[in-house]
Amino acid sequence: MNEKITLRRLDDMHCHFRIGSLLKEVLPFTAQYASRGIAMPNTRPRAILTGNDVIWYRDEIKRAFDEMPNRYPFEPLMTVEIRDNTTPQMIAEAHCAGAVAGKVYPLGVTTNSDEGLRDFENKKISETFRAMQDAGMLLLIHGELDRERILVTKREEVFLPTLFKLAEKFPNLKIVLEHISTKAAAESVQQLGKNVAATITVHHLCLTLNDVVGYGIQPHHGCMPMPKDFDDRDMLIAVATSDDPKFFLGSDTAPHPRERKECAKGACGIYTAPVLPQVLAEVFEKAGRLDRLENFVSRFGADFYSLPLNDGTISLIKSEWIVPEQIGSVVPFRAGAKLQWQLA
Ligand code: DOR
Ligand code: ZN
Repeated sequence: MNEKITLRRLDDMHCHFRIGSLLKEVLPFTAQYASRGIAMPNTRPRAILTGNDVIWYRDEIKRAFDEMPNRYPFEPLMTVEIRDNTTPQMIAEAHCAGAVAGKVYPLGVTTNSDEGLRDFENKKISETFRAMQDAGMLLLIHGELDRERILVTKREEVFLPTLFKLAEKFPNLKIVLEHISTKAAAESVQQLGKNVAATITVHHLCLTLNDVVGYGIQPHHGCMPMPKDFDDRDMLIAVATSDDPKFFLGSDTAPHPRERKECAKGACGIYTAPVLPQVLAEVFEKAGRLDRLENFVSRFGADFYSLPLNDGTISLIKSEWIVPEQIGSVVPFRAGAKLQWQLA
């Protein structure tokens, strides 16, 4: 008999579902094992900025889901993008439309952040954050700053003082530092109060910068924040497997068609949805902490978002398989590699 593990159905607290045909292509993978996914708002050509955008995007996702053969329900958890011109009124409308969180992309740090936030400290944006706090919405932050003479690998550390200021100024605002990639970020989240948590991706648990540029440039490992040093990765594995409820899964599964990755100015983002629980099982098993995987993927995120736990379970079976080189229009994470665990 092959070894088997059973987990409560997952919450993926950071997904790029995209729109149109790509949405239909990628959603089935997440919905296989997750019952909820945070839908990131950096879509194009229509970004999710208002209550009407939230309603439109949720309908798009639900329509795509309804076209699939489904055994389990799936609920997209909606977000709006917070820009310099996002007002408390827009927050109220988005909340009313069902948005559970607002997402900040600082200007210029990643895919589709060309209209990202310039200033975390001005009076107007503080009023917007206060409106989120009052409404009980979460603030999700891409925690990097693009500053003069700051290397891409240092952008996360440069952001951390801003995180401390926000956490102090808004003690009742739940803040998620998304896709942490450094030891410094993990330690900051440990130090901060109960209102601050972090998501961790599977690719940051697996990769270092060497896997992006150290052995030929590997565009399918290109993402923001960039994978960092070995000590950083060790720390991420340590906190993800520590059973600390401040750290939970947000995959940042970020599909881009192959030709948008394999070109002169490739898009950032790693498509992990097709292999997510399978690779996580490998990481947790290697750390000797398979018993803690369920809390990381299915409990701590729900708790931080004040949501009930999902019903239903998934099972993983220890049985080798090879990840396809391409799935639809996208090259998935670990393409062509042999994995140890399969979804039952
Ligand atoms: O690598 C990334 N890709 N990081 C992000 O923050 C955004 C994402 C995307 O939308 O492709
Ligand atoms: Zn993302």
